[in-house]
Amino acid sequence: MNTIASAPLAPLLDRLFAEADRATSPAMAGLSREERERLMHSKTEYLDFYGRLKDLWLPVSRRTGELLYMLARSTNAKTIVEFGTSFGISTLYLAAALRDNGGGRLISSEFEVSKVARARQNLAAGGLADLVEIREGDALQTLSADLPDGIDLLLLDGAKSLYPEVLALAEGRLRPGALVIADDAGYCPEYLDHVRSPAGGYLSTPFGDDIELSMRLA
Ligand SMILES: C[S@@+](CC[C@H](N)C(=O)[O-])C[C@H]1O[C@@H](n2cnc3c(N)ncnc32)[C@H](O)[C@@H]1O
Repeated sequence: MNTIASAPLAPLLDRLFAEADRATSPAMAGLSREERERLMHSKTEYLDFYGRLKDLWLPVSRRTGELLYMLARSTNAKTIVEFGTSFGISTLYLAAALRDNGGGRLISSEFEVSKVARARQNLAAGGLADLVEIREGDALQTLSADLPDGIDLLLLDGAKSLYPEVLALAEGRLRPGALVIADDAGYCPEYLDHVRSPAGGYLSTPFGDDIELSMRLA
């Protein structure tokens, strides 16, 4: 079974990536490069920053989506947590892997209400809604309780500055051998220091399109 290569998901992903490419944001166009860099590093202005960018999809690349699918399939993941749903493109890849692994549970998180609504529609269109719970609100709150034990895979793709805090919320529930995939982690040196430190409890390496791939050791 390969859900990402067959209907309804394959044509849906084609359509969604095309729509993501066409999306524009006057708010983003109005930001200088320096201001954008500053906001990407801020631990206090992330709601305002991403709120201003609510029309942008900011999806993982196709290559990263396929990598997510492969990693979740090859580890036979059943329990996945995601920080940063947006319109649900990465969520679709991960949920497809759960489907092809025989089922499971994906908890995702997004604070932008309009994005949550579209992500739910996209998951329904992909026939994957039954596998996904999207927690609406700031992930620092929504992922702070009721996370399942034995998380197999954690995707970090929300505000980059919060990667250490979100990892800390899930860390005690990662199973030994769990994978943590952080997109664009270069924006958060504090996160990279943690997962690359010998004392951090991970094996970690840069990988693919701006990914930091880490494995929980114990
Ligand atoms: C890079 S996009 C995620 C893209 C998505 N993973 C995909 O592949 O389609 C980041 C998303 O995280 C959301 N976000 C940022 N900080 C958040 C937070 N603290 N809690 C919940 N969502 C957050 C933003 O609103 C934005 O939609």
